[in-house]
Amino acid sequence: MLFKKFDRNAPCWCGSGRKYKTCHAAFDDKILSYARAGHTVPTRDLIKSEKDIEGIKESAKINMAVLDEVGDKIHAGMSTEEINDIVNDVTHKMGGIPADLGYEGFPKSVCTSVNDEVCHGIPSRDVILKDGDIINVDCSTILNGYFSDSSRMFLIGDVSPEKRRLVEVTRECMLAGLEKVIPWTFLGDMGSAVHHHAMKNGYSVVREIGGHGCGNAFHEEPWVSYVSKPGTEMLMVPGMVFTIEPMINMGGARIFTDEENGWTIYTADGKPSAQWEIEVLVTETGHEVLCW
Ligand code: MF3
Ligand code: CO
Repeated sequence: MLFKKFDRNAPCWCGSGRKYKTCHAAFDDKILSYARAGHTVPTRDLIKSEKDIEGIKESAKINMAVLDEVGDKIHAGMSTEEINDIVNDVTHKMGGIPADLGYEGFPKSVCTSVNDEVCHGIPSRDVILKDGDIINVDCSTILNGYFSDSSRMFLIGDVSPEKRRLVEVTRECMLAGLEKVIPWTFLGDMGSAVHHHAMKNGYSVVREIGGHGCGNAFHEEPWVSYVSKPGTEMLMVPGMVFTIEPMINMGGARIFTDEENGWTIYTADGKPSAQWEIEVLVTETGHEVLCW
C-alpha cells in the first residue's frame, strides 16, 4: 500500500472541520513520540469525536435510568429474571436496545451476579434474592449505535459487615483507579492504584477478566487490567473512553467458569466477590465519567 504524506492544510481527521495543522497535528506528534519510546499508544479509531461523546452520553442516560429503576425495585424474594424484565422494559421504553442480549450468544439482557458469582450471572426465575445477599447488576445499552456500560452493587436486606465492607472497598478501588485517569499517563498507573487499594484491604483482584474500550462498539481496545504496573499498558490520551470495572474477591483471586451455561464466573474458594463499573472519558485535564 502507498501512503501519501498527510497534507497539513487538509481538514483534520477528527471531523472538526479545522485544518489538520491547527487541530490534531501536535496531538499526533505527541502520541508518535511515546510510540517511538516503546510505549503502547491508542490507534486513531479509539479517539472519540464530540459527536461520539454526545452519542455515548445519550445512551448512558438510558443505562443509568435502568440501574436507578433496578435500585428502586430490588428486594429479597425477587427473582433475577424480574431484574431482567425491568432492564427490558425501561430500555425499550426509552428507545434503546439491551447490549447484552445475544452478545456472543448471551441469553439475557443483563448480567446478575450474586455472592460468589464474579460476573456474567444469567438472570433466572430460579434465582431468588434473599436477605444478606450482595448482587452486581451489570447493564449495557445501545442507542443510535453508541454503547454505554456500567454496573452497580446492591445489598439485599441485612448484609453482614464483612460483605458490606467488600462492596464498599470495591467501590473505593474503582474510584482509586478513576483518580489516576490523567491524560498522558498510563493505564497501568490506573490499574495499579486499583490493585494497591484492594491488597491494602486484604482482598484480591481477578486477573483474567478486565475492562475495555467502549462507545462505538461494546468491547473495543484496549483490554484493561486492574493488576497492572505503573508506567505500563496503553497511554491514556484525551478522547479515549474505557471502563473501570474491577472484580474484587474477599478470598483468593482464582476463578472458574460454569461448565453448564458457559458464562457465569465464580470464585474458586466460594467466597464473595464484588464489582462496580463506570465508563470514563479521558479529557484534556483529567476525566469525565460518562456512565455509572
Ligand atoms: N457488561 C459486561 C461488561 O462490563 C459484558 C457482559 S457481556 C454478556 O463488559 F454477554 F455477558 F452480557
Ligand atoms: Co464492561
